[in-house]
Amino acid sequence: MKLLSLAAIFSFSLSAFAQLTIYTDRPASRFKNAAAAYTQATGEQVVFAEMGFKDIVKLLETEGSATPANVVITKDVIYLAELSDKNLLRPMTPSPALETVNEFMRDKDLKWVGVTFRARSVAYSPSRVNPAEIVGYEDLATEKWAGRLCLRTGKAAYNEALVASLIVSHGEAKTTEILEGWLANLATDIFPDDLKIVAAISNGQCDVGIINHYYLAMALDNNPNLDVKYAFADQAGLGVHTNGMGAGLTAANKNANAQKFIELLLTPENQLTISAAHFDFPAVKGLAPNTFIKEWGSFKMNSANWGEIGSKATVARDLIREAGYQ
Ligand SMILES: [Fe+2]
Repeated sequence: MKLLSLAAIFSFSLSAFAQLTIYTDRPASRFKNAAAAYTQATGEQVVFAEMGFKDIVKLLETEGSATPANVVITKDVIYLAELSDKNLLRPMTPSPALETVNEFMRDKDLKWVGVTFRARSVAYSPSRVNPAEIVGYEDLATEKWAGRLCLRTGKAAYNEALVASLIVSHGEAKTTEILEGWLANLATDIFPDDLKIVAAISNGQCDVGIINHYYLAMALDNNPNLDVKYAFADQAGLGVHTNGMGAGLTAANKNANAQKFIELLLTPENQLTISAAHFDFPAVKGLAPNTFIKEWGSFKMNSANWGEIGSKATVARDLIREAGYQ
């Protein structure tokens, strides 16, 4: 009887560690090379559960220490901060692989690390705008852009993160001034998504708009003749605002190999494959993307830590609402 229950416990622990479970709001197909390398190194199968971010949080909270999830991969700095704030992540062990990632894209306690990133900056019409005119976020709030700017809704997480970044860089009062200036400069109604801004610039509704770079990359991939270009903001100042996808270990993780999977996402080969799937930039320092966006050149990035930006999300939502940015 005693032997039997020991055997039962043994087989339970084996099955608990025979696989690695990943909750993600990204398409799992992007991680299949990393998963294959992980299985080869550990003998463990990798199981992905794809779901929206809200469901990831709900499930991790409901399952608690019984969650099968070992790793979470999510798409936004605000989401990484939320997981961390809700104590749903545990710190990783410092390692040379984690240190290859740009420092500001790593949580100070290593609860998450950036995997790929995007710029949220300025798309413009080269027919109506001289790129030398484009300075940055604060400049877009000045009169020179009156009636020329297109914006996506302030309710989008992308804009919450951008506004949070402005708060970190300039403080709340200045950020409110910038938001009011943007709204005063609107060329037309606020758009529900970034791709519609690309179309609006192309069809002459507006001259400039703030979008994630990959939306323009996708549009240009479909139509290389599209008359819209991209400029990186604040190059003479603090640098362009970045946001991105990150990965971390769940607070309940007991699989000692799990960090290995996250480190596999950071090998140069996997960095290029994963970022190329979305026209993103690799989060590993000094690694250029292998898609045509590399022709857009290198650029200065705002080096405020993604964790600090995430911590300002609530204040950002308040300022957005108070400014009347729908
Ligand atoms: Fe997006």
